[in-house]
Amino acid sequence: MDYRALIDPVKTPKHIAIIMDGNGRWAKQKFARNRIFGHHNGVKAVRKTTEACRQIGVQYLTLYAFSTENWNRPSTEVNALMALLVQALEKEINDLEKNGIQLKAIGNLGDLPKATREKLEEGIYRTRNNKKLVLTLALSYSSRWELSNAIRQIAEDSKAGIIEPAAINDELISSYLETRDLPDPELLIRTSGEQRISNYMLWQIAYSELYFTKTLWPDFNEEQLYKAVWDYQQRERRFGKISEQITAK
Ligand code: IPE
Ligand code: IPE
Ligand code: MG
Repeated sequence: MDYRALIDPVKTPKHIAIIMDGNGRWAKQKFARNRIFGHHNGVKAVRKTTEACRQIGVQYLTLYAFSTENWNRPSTEVNALMALLVQALEKEINDLEKNGIQLKAIGNLGDLPKATREKLEEGIYRTRNNKKLVLTLALSYSSRWELSNAIRQIAEDSKAGIIEPAAINDELISSYLETRDLPDPELLIRTSGEQRISNYMLWQIAYSELYFTKTLWPDFNEEQLYKAVWDYQQRERRFGKISEQITAK
């Protein structure tokens, strides 16, 4: 089916968040090659997904690339992933710049090795004026880490008299999160068949539509993205109301 043709441009999600999962299993399936081979092929899927989002006018794409918990993997894999990031950014920055894509990052970036952080900062700087699509990489990110920081900062600002405790509401909390410049995602996609959130954007996905696919991340592509968006568009988002209220014009 040509899902691209079925997408309603009026109902395109502004923000899609993705938990890119399954690189290791993909590599295993390919003649038991090592997991790093899967991560390398995962970069190609990032490229395809970004392009598909750009094509249909998605404005924000936020990719879970490395979680706080992923630091607990064997150091050979962690090091390879950090090196791969440098390599992928080196290769892609020119195209991001040219294609109107603004690169951003969320997470504890201070934890990243210097070379990775510097490449990332270069990419962010060089694409800072781009407007077509904001591509955010979540790196050394976890939602509880983000929320703990936000709560600590809110407490400090409250103690310092910068904010009144009575003024703490949804909007204020959102403004203390790493994602303060991004709208909440309408759609969250997770690949590889796992149906869990793994500490990703817990606050921001309060009302996101969830889409799980068995496809392993390196096999994810434009068509799969269009299919997910089409599936999202078939749903009725009620936000607590009843169906009649939503359909009544
Ligand atoms: C996702 O693929 C990439 C990262 C978490 C960095 P995995 O590496 O988790 O692959 P699986 O889930 O083991 O197959
Ligand atoms: C989630 O994938 C993190 C990223 C995609 C970066 P994991 O593979 O680390 O998640 P779990 O361990 O299966 O929950
Ligand atoms: Mg995984």
